[in-house]
Amino acid sequence: MQKNIEVISQWTESAQYWEKHRKIIRHMFAPVTQALMKAAAITRRGAFLDLATGPGEPALSIAELIGSEGTVVGTDPVAEMVEAARREGERRGLHNATFEVAFAENLPFPANSFDAVVSRFGVMFFASPADALRECLRVLKPGGRIAMAVWHFVEKNPFHYTVAQVLERYVDSPPPAPDSPDAFRFASPGKLQAVLSAAGAAATSERLLRFSIEAPISVESFWTLRSEMSEKLRRKIAALSKQQISALKHEVLESLKTYSSEQGISFPAEVLIVSGRKERAHELNREQLSSGGTL
Ligand SMILES: C[S@@+](CC[C@H](N)C(=O)[O-])C[C@H]1O[C@@H](n2cnc3c(N)ncnc32)[C@H](O)[C@@H]1O
Repeated sequence: MQKNIEVISQWTESAQYWEKHRKIIRHMFAPVTQALMKAAAITRRGAFLDLATGPGEPALSIAELIGSEGTVVGTDPVAEMVEAARREGERRGLHNATFEVAFAENLPFPANSFDAVVSRFGVMFFASPADALRECLRVLKPGGRIAMAVWHFVEKNPFHYTVAQVLERYVDSPPPAPDSPDAFRFASPGKLQAVLSAAGAAATSERLLRFSIEAPISVESFWTLRSEMSEKLRRKIAALSKQQISALKHEVLESLKTYSSEQGISFPAEVLIVSGRKERAHELNREQLSSGGTL
């Protein structure tokens, strides 16, 4: 319960910034969205679920892809995120996308409801990834696929470490407690795949996605986006004096220049795409069938 209250308070303030920078975030992480849709085998027809959708991704991209022949539901426990997702769905006329407030560990859907479940940069923040993955398998139809994107090691991702390394010189940054919610909780190859297999998924696999995070923006705009998007960065920066913030910004802009050109910013990036499927009807045992409802 305490953990749930913390999650909501941390992400509630972030919602306004994720909505403000929505267009750039969508552009930067489009290769991850594409990889998830492929790993989850999302096709035109079907019912799809996007867990921890935040202000609506990848749900809105899926809605665009499937058109009127399919439906997608995005869920997030933070009402402000869900409202932002609904606003964007309405703005873009995506009537096949709906959004609901829900924790991944307790989904408000009957068993065997969805053809595929995806989640982009969500599972590492869940209070209980194991419970959430069991819930995903419950709401998936037999044979339905699940695909999740998590960050590979921070050293592989200058999108994260460029700002973090400079900030470390200004604020103490003790490492997070082992296995606590954090962007790099599932950075070790095999870790999330093992949790997915233990939850009961079949045919699990992991793919290392190497891509570029690109955006047609200046280093200054990137600094604003990065320092607003992350609750951790906002909290640490808020503890600094005005002079420290100005010195920090100056150093960050200098180190960001390596990744900047006339076209904007471009960071090499690495993400793990972990996927699997719910066992097919003939593979499920009696116990799974009774907990999963009718087939
Ligand atoms: C990094 S954001 C990702 C948002 C979106 N999927 C994207 O890629 O743009 C992480 C999201 O996880 C959500 N979250 C945190 N704990 C959760 C939980 N237990 N169940 C479902 N979502 C959760 C947060 O509210 C937040 O919106």
